[in-house]
Amino acid sequence: SMPKFVKIVEVGPRDGLQNEKEIVPTSVKVELIKMLVSSGLPVVEATSFVSPKWVPQLADAKDVMSAIQGFGHSRFPVLTPNLKGFEAAMAAGAKEVAVFAAASESFSRSNLNCSIEDSLVRYRDVALAAKNHEVPVRGYISCVVGCPMEGAVPPSKVAYVAEELINMGCAEISLGDTIGVGTPGIILIFLLIIEVQTAPVFLVVYVASCLVAVVQELTLRLKKNVTGFRALLGTVIPMLEAVLDVVPIEKLAVHFHDTYGQALSNILLSLQMGISTVDSSISGLGGCPYAKGATGNVATEDVVYMLNGVGVKTNVDLGKLILAGDYISKYLGRPSGSKAGIAFSRA
Ligand code: HMG
Ligand code: MG
Repeated sequence: SMPKFVKIVEVGPRDGLQNEKEIVPTSVKVELIKMLVSSGLPVVEATSFVSPKWVPQLADAKDVMSAIQGFGHSRFPVLTPNLKGFEAAMAAGAKEVAVFAAASESFSRSNLNCSIEDSLVRYRDVALAAKNHEVPVRGYISCVVGCPMEGAVPPSKVAYVAEELINMGCAEISLGDTIGVGTPGIILIFLLIIEVQTAPVFLVVYVASCLVAVVQELTLRLKKNVTGFRALLGTVIPMLEAVLDVVPIEKLAVHFHDTYGQALSNILLSLQMGISTVDSSISGLGGCPYAKGATGNVATEDVVYMLNGVGVKTNVDLGKLILAGDYISKYLGRPSGSKAGIAFSRA
């Protein structure tokens, strides 16, 4: 019930550094990317071709791209909010791009200065141009469970945007819990289905223990006077279920910010549901400049540590990854946002 291999998409140089108060010099970004590549990460999102008035931190996108050409075997996708960004990315040598929509109207306006529908119109143009260049496009969706302005976001809205992005030709959809509010839930039913397919011998024992767990949980909830069985599912499962109706699982990625400390649990849950692409950020750098108070993504070091622990391959060398985390944390002059990073560096 867990994938054998997880593709980690490192977003630190983009999602992380876009949110730093002090602008990080190009040479430091390039050295960081070099270290990330040498740790074996297959994908390192390098920068964004967005308006420098909106995100001055990444105004050196062209210089970063030219400096990293030929670094190892990693792929270096970049963010492109419109055709102008796409053309600049192509001129700078990018071979993969990402567009970024939102499942919340207010967030779309604050991040892109346009409605969800208008952003999708722009992205259709980008997707078409990308097709002509044979360039793969990743489609992000922000605020998949919650929005800093609108609160809870309905799963149907996320599924709608996901379907639009798939229909325009996106090769992958990354589901962003931008403000890290999502909670994991209980997935007995899913485990049961998988178990029936793979190990019928354990079925009886398994069904029995599932029933016991459900009865226990229900009794507990009734005692606490909590109504509604659905609460057991948390907020991430219903969202994933809705998206899975319209997007094949192998095209899905999860992108959890760790603002409320839920990211690792939500990742484990997503993997158990069959997702095998995980976004993370070295040392947990980052946030989103247009989502006030949002902290960084889940730390790459913590994700790799967990996956090593459950025997899931990533091809990432944790030791080298720790060095990359130390490098950028020292440069920024603050402790790493990775628990594993801190533990290893002390040892
Ligand atoms: P606008 O102001 O509505 O657009 O911004 P505009 O067309 O009026 O352009 C304004 C100026 O920007 C013009 O320059 C354009 O030429 C220029 P001026 O004439 O004033 O000198 N411009 C550009 N320059 C460089 N590259 C471009 C570009 N486009 C226009 N591509 C726009 C609209 C979309 C451009 C703006 O809102 C923008 O750049 N937004 C990007 C915001 C951003 O990068 N946010 C963070 C990334 S998303 C994220 O972090 C979430 C994610 O991690 C998932 C998750 O966690 O949820 C992906
Ligand atoms: Mg993000």
